Amino acid sequence: MKINPFKLERYFAIYEFTAKYLLSPSDCESLPMEQLLKGADEESLKLWKDLKLGYTESRGHPILREEITKLYHNINVDDVITIVPEEGIFIAMNAILEEGDHVIVVDPIYQSLSEIPKSLGCSVTNWTVKLKDHRWSLDIDFLEKSICEKTKMIIVNFPHNPTGYLPTKEEFSKIIEIAKKHDLYLFSDEMYWLLEHREGEGLPSAGDTYEKGISLFGLSKTFSLPGLRLGWLVTQDKALMDKIANFKDYTTICGSASSEVLGIMALRQKETILKKNRERILDNKASAKDFFKRYNELFTWIEPRGGSIAFPKLSEKIKVVEFCDRVVKDKSIMILPGETFDYDGNHFRIGLGRENFKQILKELEAYIIEEIKNYY
Ligand SMILES: Cc1ncc(COP(=O)(O)O)c(C=O)c1O
Repeated sequence: MKINPFKLERYFAIYEFTAKYLLSPSDCESLPMEQLLKGADEESLKLWKDLKLGYTESRGHPILREEITKLYHNINVDDVITIVPEEGIFIAMNAILEEGDHVIVVDPIYQSLSEIPKSLGCSVTNWTVKLKDHRWSLDIDFLEKSICEKTKMIIVNFPHNPTGYLPTKEEFSKIIEIAKKHDLYLFSDEMYWLLEHREGEGLPSAGDTYEKGISLFGLSKTFSLPGLRLGWLVTQDKALMDKIANFKDYTTICGSASSEVLGIMALRQKETILKKNRERILDNKASAKDFFKRYNELFTWIEPRGGSIAFPKLSEKIKVVEFCDRVVKDKSIMILPGETFDYDGNHFRIGLGRENFKQILKELEAYIIEEIKNYY
């Protein structure tokens, strides 16, 4: 299998643990272990205390899968398999796609969602999220027009990384209707699920509502626990679930025993964790909006509607790659250029989920005041 380097991950690999400030991470502030244990219920504390670090059940700990089903309406324990989130993309694509298949993928996109189909010999149509009246939007008619005889799957990611775009519930059900009408798989990367910014705007999960839907979710973003490397796929398609389980025997075989128990604890503290993350995102979003509007000669702010990231635009006077390069070299602030998503607009990603977001904006502001005027 030949696969291109993952541009975003390579960029993070250079700066994530060397830059002093990270303005672009997509996860929410990581939970300290102590806090997770402090909020844990008696049963999971006992599971933790009695834990033996052996191999685990390949599809995931039954209690963990039981907890996961509570996030959905029509999903039972057999419709869930635990994986590392990135592994879930790899396995699902490999289990479903074959050389010559055609897929339609939201664009820009977390690279593996389009790269893995390409590496398997599929043709890919990009379904581009565009700016319309200062808002991100997707043309649903384009989706239907792009379907051909060889189309096997539609690949979406809402709330969207990197724009924070979120379709309305009506738009999302149209996407499902189209998938259904043409008997297509719908792979729905829901890694930022439950982080919708307005109450009531959350989407249903594709795996929960459509028999050929496959949903990816996990603890890395919404639950502040990327270090557990714990996610899951849900689908009601039993034959597909078996194929996915067979494939997992060639990747990780089973999950980490300690992560499973910590995952049970986290899911049982869902309300507390989510409330804190949503509040922090909304607070940081308000600061970001103020900041980018204050420097509107340099930046255009585009409001995200969900998730923990936004994708503002930099003035065309400066190339975004050069801007990000200078800021990290001069100020040790890492900013992710849109180029890492193969996006040719002059945009960059910012992360709204971290505690030090406002402090980093202050550092960036000082830099802009001192330096950026010299660019003109
Ligand atoms: C849309 C999307 N899907 C999947 C992943 C992979 O998640 P993880 O890094 O926890 O494997 C990410 C991570 O950034 C993501 O943004």
